[in-house]
Amino acid sequence: MALRQIRIMGDPILEKRSKEVNMITDRTRELIEDMKETLYEQNGVGLAAVQVGVLKRIILVDVSDEEDAEPIVMINPVIKETEGEQEGYEGCLSVPGKTGIVKRPQRVVVEFQNENLESVTMEGEGIFARCVCHECDHLDGEMYVHRVIGVLKDVDSVEEE
Ligand code: NI
Repeated sequence: MALRQIRIMGDPILEKRSKEVNMITDRTRELIEDMKETLYEQNGVGLAAVQVGVLKRIILVDVSDEEDAEPIVMINPVIKETEGEQEGYEGCLSVPGKTGIVKRPQRVVVEFQNENLESVTMEGEGIFARCVCHECDHLDGEMYVHRVIGVLKDVDSVEEE
């Protein structure tokens, strides 16, 4: 496993659409392991492959409170249903030091493939729903900063509020 470099906003790759994954190769497996390590090291709750410079529809979601919980690996995720609404601060490893309020659904149903390309359906609410929406946006080249209500703030200024 190896840490991968996180692409920072302004890098044009972050605005590109990622491609479907139809086959799991050794390289795909290595990418997923590296993404896990990178996410863990950065203390993030989610990571999309494009953020490490690979245009594949793969995201990791790690919203568990448990210290050693493995992130959920979602390949070709599609949000099938949404319900309700939530507003809250969001951040992104590709936009370091910044945060802003974003409106997201309160609950989502997401379909994806696992690392064996088996279909999985999962539903969740709150931070899970927020994270899945944020990471799926990355796969379509969308950054949360364009969804922010009001202004993008420095993380430090919000923590002091
Ligand atoms: Ni992000």
